[in-house]
Amino acid sequence: MNHTLILLAALLLAPLAETAAAVSSSIHPGQSWLDTDGVLINAHGFCTLRHGDKYYWYGSHKIAGKTESENNEAGVRCYVSRDLLNWENAGMVLSKTAQGMSPEVADAGILDRPKVIYIPATGRFVMYFKLYGPMTPEGKLNTKEAYVGVATATQPTGPFAYQGKFLGGGSETGSGDFAIFQDADGVAYHIAVRKPDKGRKDKPLVCGRLSDDGLKPAGEYVAMEGVENATEAPALFRHAGKYYLLGSGSSGWAPNAARMFVADHLTGPYQSLGNPCRGMNPHNQLGPEKTFGGQSTFVFPVPGRRGTFIAMFDINNPEDPVHSGYIWLPLEFSTNQPAIRWRSEWNLSVFEEK
Ligand code: GAL
Repeated sequence: MNHTLILLAALLLAPLAETAAAVSSSIHPGQSWLDTDGVLINAHGFCTLRHGDKYYWYGSHKIAGKTESENNEAGVRCYVSRDLLNWENAGMVLSKTAQGMSPEVADAGILDRPKVIYIPATGRFVMYFKLYGPMTPEGKLNTKEAYVGVATATQPTGPFAYQGKFLGGGSETGSGDFAIFQDADGVAYHIAVRKPDKGRKDKPLVCGRLSDDGLKPAGEYVAMEGVENATEAPALFRHAGKYYLLGSGSSGWAPNAARMFVADHLTGPYQSLGNPCRGMNPHNQLGPEKTFGGQSTFVFPVPGRRGTFIAMFDINNPEDPVHSGYIWLPLEFSTNQPAIRWRSEWNLSVFEEK
């Protein structure tokens, strides 16, 4: 073949390559989830957000070849979708290596569990993330200073500009896993695991109101009465006038049993609903006792469908975090008792089954 022919062949084949990634019509929990380019989705400890007619998936970008004991996060990556099934890579919306980035972010040992809300009053998207200090001189993760980092953007796909950090939770050492819950009146709350400090050994879940612009705590944190001590990975949602909390136990990256609570008021008192998981994940043979191998990260109220929620989990893979996975399952209510049943394949039509 001469050069002209090779060029012609390349031009003809190029469009085929671009459309190679198959269009999905369902979700396959626990299986590799590819973006519309056919590349593994890399957005962990994630959340989703609906804005306009699109959905946004934000998660921590894990660096290939590094373990969770290393400085293995590059920042926050975003994907965009119109159907919650097919996700297009929208790039890094907060990057540790961005030009002019604050050293608080650039040198962070942990930048994890990003959550994004939209604040109509300011027209800003506000992103929160677990932000821990630089690695110790011995090369260990520094978990002593557990901050919440805050960044804002005027567009959902960023870029997000770093605004600073706060030690939430009312502890001198800060807070661990957290949820950001925006109530019906638009007020946002930071719900977090309070770290032990000099005076206290326990790890209660605490709730604090954020300022109207969402950038910092605006008052005292209160313990969420009735929530089991050391409940991690919290995800909150409201249903039929009640507040529900999904969370995990505390066993590091290893899976444990999910737990759920309900209350009439955001701060409690909460009542235990036990473990909402049912069934088994056939890919790893794990059931409710290990949350199908996952750990909660978010509960997404499906827009336009009252009372329908998607429970979202990470499958942690501390030795090879870039291959950590995702579990999305419908969260179903019957007589107000929530249940998260394993399904190997499903789509939004399950919410019309009843
Ligand atoms: C988990 C937490 C993860 C990670 C891990 C570290 O409980 O949910 O985000 O921080 O501990 O051991």
